[in-house]
Amino acid sequence: MNKSHIAILASGTGSNAKALIQFATEQGFNISCLITDNPMAGVIKIADDHHIECLIIEKKGSKSEHEACILQALKKREIDWILLAGYMRILSPGFVKAFYNQKYQVSHIINIHPSLLPKFPGAHAYQEAYAAEVQTSGITIHFVDEGIDSGKVIVQAEFPRLKEDSFEDFKKRGLALEHELYPKVMEKIINNTLFEEHL
Ligand code: GRF
Repeated sequence: MNKSHIAILASGTGSNAKALIQFATEQGFNISCLITDNPMAGVIKIADDHHIECLIIEKKGSKSEHEACILQALKKREIDWILLAGYMRILSPGFVKAFYNQKYQVSHIINIHPSLLPKFPGAHAYQEAYAAEVQTSGITIHFVDEGIDSGKVIVQAEFPRLKEDSFEDFKKRGLALEHELYPKVMEKIINNTLFEEHL
């Protein structure tokens, strides 16, 4: 069995990227590269600290030109799985199609989202869930499709919002759960068991 070649795409702090990279390192698995569209992203240092190749691919022209640059970099490294970890751009249908698995009818692109989808899709899920005073929120890891946070769910997990929670407390609890679960999904990719266990 060939080993998977995994790339992480991230735009920000990179706490999920860090959890994934640390887990991979513990397993003796090498993440092929990390790609960011944001030259100021904290995730760059995380990749550097762990000696993971980090490509900064900024959007300078159109969306399709930007995606073409990313696709070229992925192809060159024979990437077969993409893990989105706080990547703040919506991938075009053409991009998703480039990683589509006909047999299983899902893409090889996975995203982590901080709500119990379909509740609170979009870029401000923690804020919206907190403002809605939900008693229970959660996180979702899902296959990426052409929509926004609408792909087939791989796993969801709940966490409580306590009465006395500040927004920071609430988000911290959610992020801890994200960091616990995302590596477990990656482990299934590494072991080639994701489809048999989740589809
Ligand atoms: C996480 O909450 C993730 O669920 C969402 O974006 C955030 C990224 O945080 N998609 P980080 O950059 O991994 O710290």
